[in-house]
Amino acid sequence: MILVFLGPPGSGKGTQAKKVTAERGWPQLSTGDMLRSAIANGTKLGLEAKSFMDRGALVPDAVVIGLIAERVLSPDCKAGFILDGFPRTIPQAEALDLMLAELSQKVFMTVLFDIPDSELVSRLSGRRTCLKCGAMYHVVAASPKVEGICDACGAGLVQRDDDKEDVILKRLAVYHAQTAPVAGYYDSQRKLRKLDARLPQTEVLGHLKSLISN
Ligand code: AP5
Repeated sequence: MILVFLGPPGSGKGTQAKKVTAERGWPQLSTGDMLRSAIANGTKLGLEAKSFMDRGALVPDAVVIGLIAERVLSPDCKAGFILDGFPRTIPQAEALDLMLAELSQKVFMTVLFDIPDSELVSRLSGRRTCLKCGAMYHVVAASPKVEGICDACGAGLVQRDDDKEDVILKRLAVYHAQTAPVAGYYDSQRKLRKLDARLPQTEVLGHLKSLISN
């Protein structure tokens, strides 16, 4: 099953993708994680991407389409996967349909994580991530047992460079201008389902599971 998780920054796409991956085994394909890993490895692609990410802008379509086109060919994607943060523009959505058609596959469902901007700034500015295992926390809503330390692997937690308030506001503006129209693209294919992303994480997961199984 190929799922697309669509929604503004901080709406909970990554949190829920990890939970569904743990339960169903479909890998989480996060273009944000792939780009951050390229930055951490100091690759040419990473250096190019960093200048866009640090100011809250989208990385050029050709770069992220190339990353996904390569990743979907991996053997672990055969039974399905979850796209988290891709596609983010109409050209990316069209490129995805084309690359999947070549593999005789298609998107099964796009889930829109629906939440007002007013809730997102505090979510994102409070987010802390483990650089080692990728586990995610929030300083108030989902704090680790020991401040600054990952419960799962004991490594240190960090705040993402783009989770500073001025960059968060830019990312939200970019979402509304360039990514929100992707919902209409999937709606016209009758593949769009909406989810109330304001709810607590366990309730969001429950709704997600019922969408996937219906
Ligand atoms: P990316 O890494 O994809 O970031 P994003 O889409 O901005 O999404 P986030 O990871 O910030 O949020 P999320 O929805 O996953 O929320 P999360 O679960 O973490 O992209 C970063 C950058 O990379 C982009 O700005 C762009 O430059 C570039 N990029 C990536 N993909 C691209 C593409 N396709 N094209 C071009 N450029 C691309 O949760 C957030 C916080 O809220 C956490 O602290 C969590 O604990 C908490 N939380 C989660 N759920 C709940 C809940 N239900 N209630 C309360 N708190 C919750």
